[in-house]
Parts: sequence; C-alpha cells; structure tokens
Amino acid sequence: MATSKFTFFIILFLLGLTEKSSTASRINSRKSCNFPAVYNFGDSNSDTGAISAAIGEVPPPNGVAFFGRSAGRHSDGRLIIDFITENLTLPYLTPYLDSVGANYRHGANFATGGSCIRPTVACFSQFHLGTQVSQFIHFKTRTLSLYNQTNRKTPFCKGVLARPKDFSKALYTFDIGQNDLAIGFQNMTEEQLKASIPAIIESFTTAIKLLYKEGARFFSIHNTGPTGCLPYLLKSFPATPRDQYGCLKPLNNVAIEFNKQLKQKISELNKELPSSLLTYVDVYSAKNHLIIKAKNLGFVDPFDYCCVGAVGRGMGCGKTIFPNGTELYSSSCQNRQNFISWDGIHCSETANMLVANRILDGSISNPPLPTQRACKLTENVVGKI
Ligand SMILES: *[C@@H]1O[C@H](CO)[C@@H](O)[C@H](O)[C@H]1NC(C)=O
Ligand SMILES: *[C@@H]1O[C@H](CO)[C@@H](O)[C@H](O)[C@H]1NC(C)=O
Ligand SMILES: *[C@@H]1O[C@H](CO)[C@@H](O)[C@H](O)[C@H]1NC(C)=O
Ligand SMILES: *[C@@H]1O[C@H](CO)[C@@H](O)[C@H](O)[C@H]1NC(C)=O
Repeated sequence: MATSKFTFFIILFLLGLTEKSSTASRINSRKSCNFPAVYNFGDSNSDTGAISAAIGEVPPPNGVAFFGRSAGRHSDGRLIIDFITENLTLPYLTPYLDSVGANYRHGANFATGGSCIRPTVACFSQFHLGTQVSQFIHFKTRTLSLYNQTNRKTPFCKGVLARPKDFSKALYTFDIGQNDLAIGFQNMTEEQLKASIPAIIESFTTAIKLLYKEGARFFSIHNTGPTGCLPYLLKSFPATPRDQYGCLKPLNNVAIEFNKQLKQKISELNKELPSSLLTYVDVYSAKNHLIIKAKNLGFVDPFDYCCVGAVGRGMGCGKTIFPNGTELYSSSCQNRQNFISWDGIHCSETANMLVANRILDGSISNPPLPTQRACKLTENVVGKI
C-alpha cells in the first residue's frame, strides 16, 4: 500500500511539472474524464439552497443575474461550486435538505449558510461540519439500502439516487472556516483567536477521517479567504488597524495562520490516508488578487457592495419583513459586474467566476492539477484500493 501510494505521488509530481509547462491545448487534447459525483461541505459560500429549504427563502434580488429568480444562493448568480460542477459537466448540486425535486444521482450539497467547522454556540448555524458529515453518512446509508430495494419495488426513483459505486470515485469539496474566524473575532484578540486554530483544524481533520472511512478518496479543500476584507466586517470594526490594502490586519493575520496550519495538516493527511488525494486550494490568494487588482479587473471599489440591505448592513440583501408587517426592500443594484462583493459578505457571480477559473485550471492548487484532470488519477487510485 505504501509503495503504491509512493508511486502514485511520483506520477502526480511528474504530471504536475509537465502541467505547468504544457499549453492549454495540450491539456485539452488529453482524454478528459469526469468525476461521476460531487459531495460538497461548507457555509454560505457554497450553499445552493439549504438555508432556503431549512429556514427561509433567500429573497430576490439574489439570483437575478443568472437564474432570473432567487435560487437559494447568496449571490446575484452562480457560486464557485456551480462553476466547478459545470466544468465537470455535472448538474448543479441539490441541497441535501431539499425535499422537493431533488436529484442526487451526481452528488449532493451539505453546505449550509452560516456554518462553522466547530460546533460553537455563537455560530450562525447549527449545521456545523460534524453535522454535515453525519448527514452524509445518513445519506449514504439510506442510498445503499434504497438502491437495493429500487431494483425490485420502486424503479421510478432509481434515476435520482446516487450509485453506490460512485461514492469512492466522487470529488469531495470543502469551503468552510470563514465563520469560525469571523465569529471568533467578535470577542477575541488576534492572539486568542490564533490559539484556537489548532482545535478548529482538529475538528476539520476528524471530519475528513470520517469521510475517508466512508470511502471518500478525492478531497479538494479550499482554504479560507481574506476574511478581514469583507465589507461588512470593515464597517463593523472601524477602529481596527488596516493592512496595506485596507483590510482588517489582525483578522487577515489569523486567516493566513489558519491557512498555514490547514495546508500542513493536509500534507500530513496525504501521507496518513492511503490511496487518497487531498488537494489544498489557495482561494485566499485568488480572492486577494481580486482586491489588489480591483481597478485593473474592472471593479470600482473592492470594499463597496452591490445589494445594500434596506436595514443597512450585509445579509440585508432582499426583502425584509418586520413583525409589524412592514416590508422593506433593498436596492436591486445595477452594474453588478463592477462589484467583487454582492451583499457585503458574499462574492458576486463575476468574482466567483474569476476565482473558479483559477481553481479549475489548477493554478492555485497543491498539487497543481486542473479539476477535470484530477479524476483520471483518482480512478487509478481507487482501482488499487
Ligand atoms: C467568546 O464568546 C463565546 C460564546 O459567545 C464564548 O464561548 C467564548 O469563551 C468567548 N471568548 C472569549 C475569549 O471571551
Ligand atoms: C445490497 O445488495 C447486495 C447484493 O445483493 C448486498 O451484498 C448488499 O449487502 C446489500 N446492501 C444493503 C445496504 O442492503
Ligand atoms: C415597523 O417596524 C419597523 C422596524 O422596527 C419600523 O421601521 C416601521 O416604521 C414600523 N412600521 C409601522 C407601520 O409601525
Ligand atoms: C474546465 O476547466 C478547464 C481548465 O480551466 C478548461 O480547460 C476546460 O475547457 C473547462 N471545461 C468546461 C467544460 O468548462
């Protein structure tokens, strides 16, 4: 097992090197293969409808730019995970919590807005990573048992069930951690928050190991973005020191430290978990690039946002109904493509697309593999289990 893993990484290493020097046409000329399914875990950055299903509809103008309606996403259009599934020629992911019209043949989305890695009381959502993994285990158990029954009794629902053999060939994606840091920052100093990072990473590791035990083999892990650049936090902490780009310096220092420890842990897990591949994706640098190069990329002000809530701050994007029945609407903004931030917290579709492109071509991944090509390697790995 150790030898095959070693050989695998040699191959990976060589591919990674040739990848960098090869042209895009050469990548395209190689036979592409697709992951048969994607299972995603995270917070609102990749929630495709869980909050809408569980708590209350994400209101318009969310979704207007692409879906023409609110589509359960906190953005004017598609999220990074939508661009990933598009690239893999898979359908958009159905939230696990959706009970109507769900199709899980090509994966499911466990990401829920407001979620943290750790189950802290202060977190906005109770669907923390551990809960999301429990949901996945229930999902898999139910699928395996129903799949057998459907052969005989209920063939009509077979088309929307995940295929049991796809669980170990699927791509498992993660985008979570931003809320652990942003919430911790409300009442902790930079040092206190930094001291809490190992425990957050430990919870993350537990989740990965549980999924591995369930047969997951290919993991794509997004690090956390420059949280200190989120417009709503900049408004909330006017007196906090800024860095050279105008972001909250202590919070970005914490995000950088979190990412450093995450990267280190992923490298350890790659050695520890046989026949698996964990990819570390530097979303921080891709988002930071948008902020630093905002003007060149056609964004007006990196800290301005498009959909300004009727009640002031971020998250107010859309309709607000007060207990006394008064309805307030936020401005549905024009020129959406000029904004990195859609609502003060979440990225606009334009920003999501730019980040997704960097993820998909492998340029911010370690090892540096385009998402579409990585599955070829997974097939080889899974074959050896
Ligand atoms: C911050 O608040 C949370 C709960 O709201 C609490 O558990 C934690 O101990 C607090 N941390 C500090 C350093 O006060
Ligand atoms: C499904 O059926 C197969 C073949 O009959 C059997 O090996 C497997 O244990 C069954 N799985 C479940 C979860 O019932
Ligand atoms: C209802 O409540 C909101 C928020 O407290 C307030 O702004 C509004 O004026 C109230 N409307 C009425 C009709 O009392
Ligand atoms: C997926 O992304 C890769 C890398 O950027 C690109 O070469 C390819 O054309 C994309 N495929 C689809 C179907 O979008």
